[in-house]
Amino acid sequence: MQKERLFGCRYGYFSEDGREYIITRPDTPKPWVNVISNGDYGLIASQTGSGFSWLTNSNLNRITRYSQDLVKDEMGKFIFIRDRESHEYWSAGWKPVCTAPDSYECRHGIGYSRITSENHGIQSELTIFVSPDEPVEIWILKAKNNSKTERSLGVYSYLEWNLGVYNVENREFQKIFIDTIYDETLSSFFATKRLWEVTNSRKENMNANWDYIAFHSASELPASFDGDRESFIGLYGAIGSPRAMKVEQLERHTGKWVDGIASLQLDVNLKPDEEKTLVFVLGVTKEKQEAAELIRKYKDVREAWHALDKVAELWEPHLQGSTIETPDQAMNFFTNTWLKYQTISCRLWSRTAFYQSGGAFGFRDQLQDSQMFLTYQPELTMKQILLHARHQYTDGTVKHWWQPMTEEGPDSHFSDDLLWLTFVVSNYLLETGDFSLLDMREPYLDGGEGTIYEHCKKSLDRAFRRFSPRGIPLIGEADWNDGLSACGTDWIGESFWVGEFLYDIIHRFEPAMIFMEDSEFKERCGMIADLLKENLNKYGWDGEWYLQCTTDGGKELGSKNCQEVRIFLNPQVWAILSGIVPEERLETVVRAVQEHLVKEYGSLLLYPAYTAVDEDIGYLTRYAPGLRENGGVYSHAATWAIQAFCKLKMPEAAYDIYKKICAINRSFDIECYKAEPYVMPGNTDGPDSPNYGRGGWTWYTGSAAWLFRVTHEHILGLRPAGNGLKVDPCIPSEWKGYQVKRIFRNAVFEISFENPEHVSFGVKAIYLNGRFIEGNTIPVCEAGSKNQIRVILGKDI
Ligand code: GLC
Repeated sequence: MQKERLFGCRYGYFSEDGREYIITRPDTPKPWVNVISNGDYGLIASQTGSGFSWLTNSNLNRITRYSQDLVKDEMGKFIFIRDRESHEYWSAGWKPVCTAPDSYECRHGIGYSRITSENHGIQSELTIFVSPDEPVEIWILKAKNNSKTERSLGVYSYLEWNLGVYNVENREFQKIFIDTIYDETLSSFFATKRLWEVTNSRKENMNANWDYIAFHSASELPASFDGDRESFIGLYGAIGSPRAMKVEQLERHTGKWVDGIASLQLDVNLKPDEEKTLVFVLGVTKEKQEAAELIRKYKDVREAWHALDKVAELWEPHLQGSTIETPDQAMNFFTNTWLKYQTISCRLWSRTAFYQSGGAFGFRDQLQDSQMFLTYQPELTMKQILLHARHQYTDGTVKHWWQPMTEEGPDSHFSDDLLWLTFVVSNYLLETGDFSLLDMREPYLDGGEGTIYEHCKKSLDRAFRRFSPRGIPLIGEADWNDGLSACGTDWIGESFWVGEFLYDIIHRFEPAMIFMEDSEFKERCGMIADLLKENLNKYGWDGEWYLQCTTDGGKELGSKNCQEVRIFLNPQVWAILSGIVPEERLETVVRAVQEHLVKEYGSLLLYPAYTAVDEDIGYLTRYAPGLRENGGVYSHAATWAIQAFCKLKMPEAAYDIYKKICAINRSFDIECYKAEPYVMPGNTDGPDSPNYGRGGWTWYTGSAAWLFRVTHEHILGLRPAGNGLKVDPCIPSEWKGYQVKRIFRNAVFEISFENPEHVSFGVKAIYLNGRFIEGNTIPVCEAGSKNQIRVILGKDI
C-alpha cells in the first residue's frame, strides 16, 4: 500500500521524518531552493538544478554568476548529458535544457539536495552538497543505463565564473579580469581574477587583488573542456540548446580573453543496467597547493561519499539539540528541522536567498536570528553578541549592516538598531544565568574597548538622548519598519513602537544592572520607563489603538483619522508585550487587532495598505499595496502577534495565527501560496494585493528564529526565569499532551506534558525525576545531568 504523502501537494511532500522535502515535478510555481552552507562556503540549489556559489560572503565573493531571475531560474551552474550516438541531450537537473523527464524527483535535505530523473533511458541521480570542513562543493552524479542497449554518453559540467563582487550586468568589464587555465597534470580548471571590486587597504577603488584561486575538476579524466562561454553556447545561441551539444568535443579555449566559464566533458559508456558514479568538485582556496590537494582527494569517489556522511554529522547536534513532539506535525517538522535550518544555514551562515542576496550582517537581523540557539547551544548566541558589539561606536551608535571581509556598510540612523544588542544580551542572561558575559571586553569601531555591559549601557544611553520634547523616542531614519524611511530624517518624527520596545528592554536589562550593582543607572532607567509609559499612553493613543509614529512634519501614522493605513500591528502587539497598555485599554486594543489586522493568512503588518506615494513617509508607500511591509503578512512581526496572544492567554487566537503563517500548512493551498512550503517566507501578500495569500521572499531573516522561539517559549510554554524554567503553555485544548527536549543551564530536560482535562494553560503538577515540585518552575539542575519531567496541565495550582 502506498504510504500517505505527508503534507502532499501537486508539487511535493515531506519525508516521514520531516527532514527532506521531496519535489515531484520540476515546474513548481516558483523556484523552490535549498540554501546549503558549511558556515563559510555556500551555494543555492534550486529544484531545476540551477544555482550559484560563494565563499565567506555571498555578495562580495561569489564564485559563480547569479542572476536574480525567479522566472527563468537560470543562475548558471548545470550538468548536461548527451547521447553521443543519437545526439539527444538533456540536463541532470532540468534546467537549462528542460526536456520532459520520464521521471523526476528533487529532495531538498539538510545540507544537500538530490535530483533524480530519467531521460531517454538514462537515470541520473545528482547529489549536491558542500564539504563540512573544506571550501569545496561536491556534485555526485550516478548515471544508470535503464535501456536495453549499450550507451555512450558525454556528461558536461557547466559554470560561469564570477569570482568576486556580484556584477553580472557589467559582464564586458568584469570578464577582462578573469583568467582561466586548464592544468593538464591535474586535469583541472583553475580560475583567478586580477581585480576584486572592493576598496583596498589603501582606500583605493578598483585596485584590490582577489586573493584566491578557484578550481573545478572531476573524478575521471575529461575528454575535453572549454573555458569560453561563446564557444560553448555559440554566438547568438541559447544555454538550453548550446553549440557544445551539437559537436563531439569542446573547444579547449581558456585564458584572459574570453567570457570565462568552466566545462568538463566526461565520456562514459554504460552497458544495459550498468551504473557509474562521477564526481565534480568546485572550490576556492588561497593557495594553489591547497586546491591541488582537494582536487586529488576528490578524484576518489569514496571521499565524496565520505564528505556527505560528514554533512550529516555537522547537522545532527543542531537537529537533536532541542526537539518537540506535539500533535501538530507541521509544528514538529518546522521546529525540529526547518526553522533551525533556515536560521543557521541561510540567515547566519549564508545571508542570501533567491529573493534577496545581501551577504552582510544586519545589526538587528542576525542578533535576533541567533536567539534560535538559546534552547540548546547559547554559546553560539554569545558569539553573535560579541560580533555585533564590535560593530558599535563609542557613542553607542552602530553599523546598520556590514559586509564580512571588507567591513564596509552604513552607519545606522535607525532608532531601534542599537537596542537589539541590549535586548539579546538580556535574553542570553536570562537563559544561561551566565553573567560573566557582561564583563567580556570588545572593541568599539572608533577605538577603545568596553565590557559588554558598557556596550549595552551605551546603547540605552544613546537611545535616551533621542527623545522628542514630549518624551517619545525619535524615529530617525526608520524604526524596525525599514520602509518608514522618510519619517524622521531630521530627527523630529517620533516612534511609539520604539518607545514600547525601549520600555520592554529597560525591564529586561534590570537583572544585568542589579548584577553590576549599577543602582544609579538602574534608577535612571526606571524613571525613564515610568515617563515612557505615561507619555506613550498620553500621546500614542488615538482612542481605539496605538499610533505607529509621527513624521518630521508632525503627521500621525496609523491613526483612525488617517486616509490610508489606519492601524499598524507592531504598536498594538508591543503595547501588550511590553506591558505599557493599561488594563482598561487592553480589550479595545485586542479587539482592534482582531478586527482590522488578523485575516485569512495571518496578522497584517498594517491595514489598509498605502496606495499613494507619500514622500514624507518613505518607501513603504512606494511598495505595491499588499506587498511586504505595505499591508502584507510580514512573518517576522506576525510571530510577535502570536506571542502577544499567548501572553493574554488567548490560545485560539495565538494558534490561529500560528497555523496560518506556518508555511507547511500552506501545502494545502499551494496554487495560491506558490512558495516553498518548508521554510518561512518574509511576507505573504495581503488583501490589497490581487495575489492575496501568495508567499514571497522565502528563507528571509527574522521570521524562522522568532517562530522557533515563540513556539518553544510561548505556545509550548517553557521560558527561562531567573531560578529555573517556567512552565506556562498556551496550547490548543484538543491536545492530549506533548513532549519537549531542551537544554537549560547545561542540563538536559526531557519534559512530557499531559493534558487530561484538555485545558489550554494552567499547570496542576510537576514531577522532576519522579519527585513532586511546588509551583510551576522547574529548578536549575546539575550541569551535565539528564532529567525527566512530567507536567500535568490542568486548573492552576
Ligand atoms: C527586513 C529587515 C529587518 C527589518 C524588517 C522590517 O526583515 O532585514 O531588519 O526590521 O525588514 O522592515
